Amino acid sequence: MERIVIEGGFPLKGTITISGAKNSAVALIPAALLANDVCTIKNVPNITDRDALFDIIKWLGCTIEQKDGIIKIDPRNLKNILITEELSIRLRASYYFMGVLLGKYKHVEMYFPGGCNIGSRPIDIHLDGFKTLGAKITKKGHKYILDAKELKGNEINLKFASVGATINIMFAAVYAKGRTIIKNAAKEVEIINIMDFLNNMGAKISGAGTDTIVIDGVEELKGAEITVIPDRIEAGTYILMGALLGDNLKIDGIIPEHNQALLNKLKEMGVDFKISEHSIVINKCENFKPVNVRTEVYPGFPTDLNQPMSILMTQANGTCVMEETIWEKRIGHYPYLQKLGANIELDGNKATIKGKTELKGTDTNATDLRAGAALILAGLIASGTTTINDIDYILRGYENIILKLSNVGAKIKIEQI
Ligand code: EPU
Repeated sequence: MERIVIEGGFPLKGTITISGAKNSAVALIPAALLANDVCTIKNVPNITDRDALFDIIKWLGCTIEQKDGIIKIDPRNLKNILITEELSIRLRASYYFMGVLLGKYKHVEMYFPGGCNIGSRPIDIHLDGFKTLGAKITKKGHKYILDAKELKGNEINLKFASVGATINIMFAAVYAKGRTIIKNAAKEVEIINIMDFLNNMGAKISGAGTDTIVIDGVEELKGAEITVIPDRIEAGTYILMGALLGDNLKIDGIIPEHNQALLNKLKEMGVDFKISEHSIVINKCENFKPVNVRTEVYPGFPTDLNQPMSILMTQANGTCVMEETIWEKRIGHYPYLQKLGANIELDGNKATIKGKTELKGTDTNATDLRAGAALILAGLIASGTTTINDIDYILRGYENIILKLSNVGAKIKIEQI
């Protein structure tokens, strides 16, 4: 077993380069199977969620070549066989194989996906979309069997703007007959990246990034290329570290407007940063003003930055409220923050955080990916030593996090226990 060990209190100086977006890459990799020839995906982050998807793709008979973040997926020997439960539960994004295989073969069998425990995480909106396109769905235990004589374009009004359901319905609809219109679609920027990849293959999709996506079914998708967009959540996590400890810390290789909601809040808190075309330089803030944050779908404040942002709130001069509206359980880190010395009252999904509190290093556990990231932020500003167990959660979403932080002056390492 491994754990992260942090000695807190060191300034962060230099440049952190942001990797490709996890939540884009985990959809682009399955999407490659929709094509009938080799696809190239560039800027793929080296994270364990990527490896879990590779294992599924190999299980399905496809080959993958990878070098320096560039991967080539050859789907020409794709076999539409049952994806085992062991493979499905390794990550949330395994659900994208439902849309892909249903779209391509009109039949798919697989189990419920896995992923971080941040709420009940149903997939009913995905399944309702597939049904509206003509799929019959049978559930046997944990296994889903989706079958359609043919898929026909239709109008699908999502009851919630789900990221996963929007992408999965795009996958199922690309080969459907006629026009599919997704209304109340999720507007996250990752969805534009997925649309671009599918259109490079020859799909006819428009509207990604808005709440109405139109997909005109095609008969053939050829091999294509795409570059994964920068990870706005990874960028946001390091921007927050810069606000706490930056000495002209540069966060590079980003699209600053993707982090607009976060930057607006940081401005409100009094943080000093300078935005350039593809980077942000950020300095430690000595006097954080209190703010309230409510997570929203894009372009609102992202749920995935809720937990890292809560660490800044422990340093504000006054009372902050962090309210989560997307997931029921973005709260796994709070007991550990309290153990570190933070003053937090929890009421369901609303945390009232009273600052400014000194944090003192202690032993903690990452309960999910972003809880783990939040604990790293806490450890970096705490006095003494903070240890974080269950670090697999962190490694599923942050490429080279130890190296990136060590390179800018953090005292952080992975230790075998
Ligand atoms: N929901 C349903 N039914 C569904 C699908 C979703 O009720 O069929 C509910 C969920 O329970 C949740 C809300 O809708 O309350 C949002 O879910 P969404 O489908 O948008 O989330 P997701 O696609 O499963 C992706 C990211 C998450 C990120 C959310 C919201 C991936 C693999 N995951 O999840 O990322 O929090 O969108 O932006 O893309 C993370 O990176 O830490 C992470 C959890």
